[in-house]
Amino acid sequence: MSKLAFIGGGNMARSLIGGMLARGHDPALIAVGEPFVAAREALHSQFGVTVSADNRAVVDGASTIVLAVKPQMMKSVCADLPALDQSVLVVSIAAGVTLTQMRRWLGPGPRLLRVMPNTPALIGAGTTALCGEPGLAETDYREAEALFSSVGNTVRISDEQLMDAVTAVSGSGPAYFFLLMESMEAAAIAQGLSPEAARQLVTGTALGAARMANEDAEGPAELRRRVTSPGGTTAAAVAVFEKAGMASITDQAIEAATARGRSLAAEQES
Ligand SMILES: NC(=O)c1ccc[n+]([C@@H]2O[C@H](COP(=O)([O-])OP(=O)(O)OC[C@H]3O[C@@H](n4cnc5c(N)ncnc54)[C@H](OP(=O)(O)O)[C@@H]3O)[C@@H](O)[C@H]2O)c1
Repeated sequence: MSKLAFIGGGNMARSLIGGMLARGHDPALIAVGEPFVAAREALHSQFGVTVSADNRAVVDGASTIVLAVKPQMMKSVCADLPALDQSVLVVSIAAGVTLTQMRRWLGPGPRLLRVMPNTPALIGAGTTALCGEPGLAETDYREAEALFSSVGNTVRISDEQLMDAVTAVSGSGPAYFFLLMESMEAAAIAQGLSPEAARQLVTGTALGAARMANEDAEGPAELRRRVTSPGGTTAAAVAVFEKAGMASITDQAIEAATARGRSLAAEQES
């Protein structure tokens, strides 16, 4: 096994390291660069990985480097790294930072991959989209997939232009489901249920529905049809959602998030 370096030891790096160790990765082969001393000490005591405030030392000898800092830190973090050659795979998880920017900041050497994880990765149930530079080798995709599948599912995206749509769907997506769950909880309480019962009924139902949609090859539209008997209670609720334009509202919301992602990336360009 070869050395893996993380630059940034925050939430996402912690989840990935935890997932990898649970899958048998050797902590002695993981090094983390993190400026905050308490975060460094916590990473070392929790996982037994090597930690340092010196990013240059952390990447020394690493075959894969995961850049897990906030997007606004990315340019200066890249500028401080030593020149990297073709033997190194760099994986950026920063939202909105493009492969073109990464290439400009890191120079011509390393192979580059951009990924978009989401927050459920923190509990091992993430969905991560991966997009490499055109021509990136299959082995590089496989290596990144092995890394991110330790915290959930992975999906390949071949056209980087679509990463803003990915951000709008899976990156921001957990919040849309939380919003629906929030509304359902409030509605349940308005019907007289206790907050505790409302929480259990809503979260349990969301989990069950998500598992069914994930495990049943028919997909959500057919699953919905199956539980919607004509004239029944589900049909009464679905009619209200449809009359209020749920499909169109969802479409507009995803379009707004995609456009916002595009403009955030453009702002970073300047
Ligand atoms: N969390 C998510 O669900 C999620 C989803 C998709 C994408 N992402 C992307 O993942 C990246 C990391 O997110 P996160 O949630 O893990 O953020 P985070 O918890 O804030 O972690 C970033 C870490 O990087 C450290 N850092 C800052 N400057 C550094 C430097 N020069 N060298 C090394 N480390 C440095 C920070 O230390 P200090 O605290 O001391 O500043 C912090 O511990 C972001 O770019 C974000 O866009 C996150």
